[in-house]
Amino acid sequence: MFKSALAAAADATQACLAEKMAPMGDLPVVQGMRYAVDGGKGLRGFFVIESARLYGIEPIASVYAAAAIEAVHAYSLVHDDLPCMDDDDLRRGQPTVHKKWDEATAVLVGDGLHSLAFDLLAHPALGTAEIRLALTSSLARAAGAEGMVLGQAQDILAETAATPLKLEQITELQRNKTGALIEWSCVAGALIGGADRGAMRRYAQAVGLAFQIADDILDVEGDAVIAGKRLQKDADAGKATFVSLLGLETAKSRAQELVDQACSALDDFGDDAKILRDAAQFVVKRDR
Ligand code: IPE
Ligand code: IPE
Ligand code: MG
Ligand code: MG
Ligand code: MG
Repeated sequence: MFKSALAAAADATQACLAEKMAPMGDLPVVQGMRYAVDGGKGLRGFFVIESARLYGIEPIASVYAAAAIEAVHAYSLVHDDLPCMDDDDLRRGQPTVHKKWDEATAVLVGDGLHSLAFDLLAHPALGTAEIRLALTSSLARAAGAEGMVLGQAQDILAETAATPLKLEQITELQRNKTGALIEWSCVAGALIGGADRGAMRRYAQAVGLAFQIADDILDVEGDAVIAGKRLQKDADAGKATFVSLLGLETAKSRAQELVDQACSALDDFGDDAKILRDAAQFVVKRDR
């Protein structure tokens, strides 16, 4: 059930993005934008759509928020892969945008996707002007210099830190770098539904951290062909990760503890939240 819900959410999100970009023509920057949103797992869009459902919001409305977060996520990956950042050649099993086109195009593809996201959040299907404003400002914060951008800056700084980061510092870095966008994905539904965000926030914070720990574990022992990106890079690049600090086994048990925490945050929703509990389990068991 989780797998089919993930596929359905990804299809709806992709269709929404394709429709939004249809009038944009065919310059390399637009080709690159279409290319960059293609082929991911679509997990953030899924979190938006499935958490919105808990509050009675149908995908026909929430898909605009799902498309927005997938656009921001894709932008973050295009820039993350640039030579001045992680310098990666492969993403989602395909050449990275700067390899397929060039660096200037990749910078602009990211910029274009970032703006596209905020236009998607202005769509009337998402609700009143007040709701759309709340979605907009919360995504701006989650993506910006208090969220993902901060985390990326901390990640790059950690590569050349004189002393290895402590556990609290790595936790904070990962909460910003990966957690902030995942948290937004999980609370967007409550925002659209005008509901309390407490439970979803607790779920998201645990899932977000577990997600990045799983990504760091994949870097060490994943299969690059299945993952669709180059692995075994973090250690040489001097990345500060849970694995670099705690080792594989402790990182794995920490990730599973976080999944259990995430699942219990949804107790009040009963069976309605089964799919989100399954999603939390998937986050640490995934191979890509
Ligand atoms: C990869 O995210 C980058 C991180 C934040 C660790 P995903 O694993 O969700 O990547 P896609 O979207 O499925 O390609
Ligand atoms: C990427 O983290 C996080 C963002 C793009 C915000 P990583 O650098 O660990 O992701 P991968 O391993 O390249 O997918
Ligand atoms: Mg990175
Ligand atoms: Mg990277
Ligand atoms: Mg990684």
